[in-house]
Amino acid sequence: MDVINHCACLLLISLLLMIRLSNAAAATYNVMKYGAKADGKTDSTEAFVKTWAAACSSAQTATMYVPKGRFLLKAAVFRGPCKSRINVQIYGTLNAPTDYWALGNSGYWILFIKVNRLAVFGGTLDAKGSGFWACRKSGKSCPVGARSITFNWVNDLAISGLVSINSQQTHLVINSCNNVVVRNVKLVAPADSPNTDGIHVQSSTGVTITGATLQTGDDCVSIGPGTRNLYMSNIKCGPGHGVSIGSLGKEVNEAGVQNVTLTNVIFTGSDNGVRIKSWARPSNGFVSNILFQNIMMRNVENPIIIDQNYCPDNQGCPNQSSGVKISQVTYKNIQGTSATAEAVTFDCSPSNPCRGIRLQDIKLTYMNKAATSSCNNIGGTSTGVLMPQSCVH
Ligand SMILES: *[C@@H]1O[C@H](CO)[C@@H](O)[C@H](O)[C@H]1NC(C)=O
Ligand SMILES: *[C@@H]1O[C@H](CO)[C@@H](O)[C@H](O)[C@H]1NC(C)=O
Repeated sequence: MDVINHCACLLLISLLLMIRLSNAAAATYNVMKYGAKADGKTDSTEAFVKTWAAACSSAQTATMYVPKGRFLLKAAVFRGPCKSRINVQIYGTLNAPTDYWALGNSGYWILFIKVNRLAVFGGTLDAKGSGFWACRKSGKSCPVGARSITFNWVNDLAISGLVSINSQQTHLVINSCNNVVVRNVKLVAPADSPNTDGIHVQSSTGVTITGATLQTGDDCVSIGPGTRNLYMSNIKCGPGHGVSIGSLGKEVNEAGVQNVTLTNVIFTGSDNGVRIKSWARPSNGFVSNILFQNIMMRNVENPIIIDQNYCPDNQGCPNQSSGVKISQVTYKNIQGTSATAEAVTFDCSPSNPCRGIRLQDIKLTYMNKAATSSCNNIGGTSTGVLMPQSCVH
């Protein structure tokens, strides 16, 4: 190759490279370019929303980029549909205003709505919930409180490495979504903070939650009506109220919960371990095909519980009987310690007894002795090692 050709060739290659790089650059949308300030004081809400709008209209895969630093964010809506796949990469910390009235009565802080193909990487959310909890405890009039991060009608969603602390209400909400993976999230609020659930899943299909650390003042995971094909593994829960299917059956017409697996979980000092809970009210809701397995309980108050007699203040439960039908629930290889004598409680509906409940290899102790169990309106089978003695036949 002669020198001229060689040079022309190199020039062409570098030109091509430059075009590629500039394309790649064009698909990254940095919040700093849209006016965000990483000082933790300047309101960056508008800058974030503008960045999202630009990323959302990108013709190619777009990354919304949040660098290190602290960003003050008020209630923010990130709305789709977008033209392409979107990645939100957060290296910094997002702070809510300390004044909880600033988030108003909208019920959300960060909201993604009607987006397809969305991935959220990293990020620390600090909702500064302590003022709000104090307001609620004082009995003063308070706003409804905000869920820290909510996904409504999002399909093909991946969330990984998210950290959320001190949420006012629930940390992370998956509502009306399909095909979701939540990986390695850490959600933390004090044990006595009211209604700070970790993850709430509702009206969603195909949700996987894996590798979560959940330390909350309410349910680590709460599973609402219309949840199907939910798989949860490698979770640490506690303090908190445990993993709860429900409360269900508050409404007469309600979608059921089906095909839920919870596996490889450690509960530490939580109020409940695995719970299914329904209102003692008429309802056509149901719970079926549930598997709880390979679970370690450490000093848990109600390690295994079905409570179909939920009726706070005894209001609105005409005959104290739940319409929710619970069937095909398996408890397999559940071990450890109960903080109360009764480790297994099955209090099913008199009008709709639990069916197909299976216990296999349960070993729960209370103060180094076998714990006890109680059964109401339940049918099923028990196999393997059973401590406490099973009352399910
Ligand atoms: C149950 O859910 C799992 C995901 O956890 C899924 O792979 C499986 O296909 C579902 N089963 C049915 C019968 O839908
Ligand atoms: C429960 O109460 C409702 C309304 O009072 C009634 O329609 C229903 O038949 C009752 N169900 C049972 C199982 O008693």
